[in-house]
Amino acid sequence: MPPKSPLFFPFLLLLLTLLTIATNATQHFKEAPQFYNSPDCPSLFCDDEDTETTVFCSDQAIHVAMTLDSTYIRGSMAAVLSVLQHSSCPQNIAFHFVASASANTSLLRATISSSFPYLNFRVYSFDDSAVSGLISTSIRSALDCPLNYARSYLANILPLCVRRVVYLDSDLVLVDDIAKLAATDLGKNSVLAAPEYCNANFTSYFTPSFWSNPSLSLTFANRKACYFNTGVMVIDLDRWRGGDYTTKIEEWMELQKRMRIYELGSLPPFLLVFAGNIVPVDHRWNQHGLGGDNFRGLCRDLHPGPVSLLHWSGKGKPWARLDANRPCPLDALWAPYDLLQTPFALDS
Ligand SMILES: *[C@@H]1O[C@H](CO)[C@@H](O)[C@H](O)[C@H]1NC(C)=O
Ligand SMILES: *[C@@H]1O[C@H](CO)[C@@H](O)[C@H](O)[C@H]1NC(C)=O
Repeated sequence: MPPKSPLFFPFLLLLLTLLTIATNATQHFKEAPQFYNSPDCPSLFCDDEDTETTVFCSDQAIHVAMTLDSTYIRGSMAAVLSVLQHSSCPQNIAFHFVASASANTSLLRATISSSFPYLNFRVYSFDDSAVSGLISTSIRSALDCPLNYARSYLANILPLCVRRVVYLDSDLVLVDDIAKLAATDLGKNSVLAAPEYCNANFTSYFTPSFWSNPSLSLTFANRKACYFNTGVMVIDLDRWRGGDYTTKIEEWMELQKRMRIYELGSLPPFLLVFAGNIVPVDHRWNQHGLGGDNFRGLCRDLHPGPVSLLHWSGKGKPWARLDANRPCPLDALWAPYDLLQTPFALDS
């Protein structure tokens, strides 16, 4: 038998390791450090009250809602870490995670707990059968995931005592204090605040059958046709409940099933209901599109101006590009928040 090259066994070991990684879907995450309130934060905790209930119902807490699933959990964990790290009152933040009813919620809960042992969080089950019947197929199948529509149901999913929430997508990181975003003044009757873009061309978001229908095409008459990205929103849940906006969104989705009025997924119903009627937030709170071009996957640059939140909306995700060794330049800004335990990294 010919002698084996001295590299043979290390090579075999590497191959076995790679095979193990490929077959083992469970990802392991590092533990995040504990974050503490600064001395001037409002105190939400009293000795004689149940801490859990207090923070999850307090108007002084900052309520953050995100979805949670096994595909995007790495992004969600990075987002949570970024929120905590830049917050002056991290212990006053309550995270409300919405998971699909068909997901293993105890596993998701355990994953979050092991990386964030001190986090105030709850996991809610979202019965996606309610929405899956309303979804028509759109260009990108990721947009058809029922969990994508959970943001329209927050007013029903979260407890009634939660009156205001900041909704965040899982493919973003904050580099500023979320308290500033959460404190957005919604005025006397606005339901929703988000960065908006008023030079949008709405013609391309909706189909010719929408525009050629006399009553439908009047939807945006007398409204500033401003586009907004639904990945970052401040929502007044009391007003949402009062106006039953979930039903209004569902009605557009039902119409979409009968006569295709738009091409993309969960965004157009939001535009149909809210565009032109939201409170504008500074653009720094959603530097979106960093996922790149939907069709060719090209890298995108930041929009001009300051940055408080980086959002990798679009097809490419920073963790996938970093793993593939083909990152876009701005993916380096996401990497410091990645909690994934890489098998080759030494435990620290
Ligand atoms: C859910 O995950 C837990 C681990 O946390 C595991 O023990 C359990 O078998 C899983 N349940 C299902 C239905 O896969
Ligand atoms: C808006 O888009 C439509 C088609 O997508 C195009 O025909 C129209 O010229 C555009 N309008 C402006 C003002 O750019």
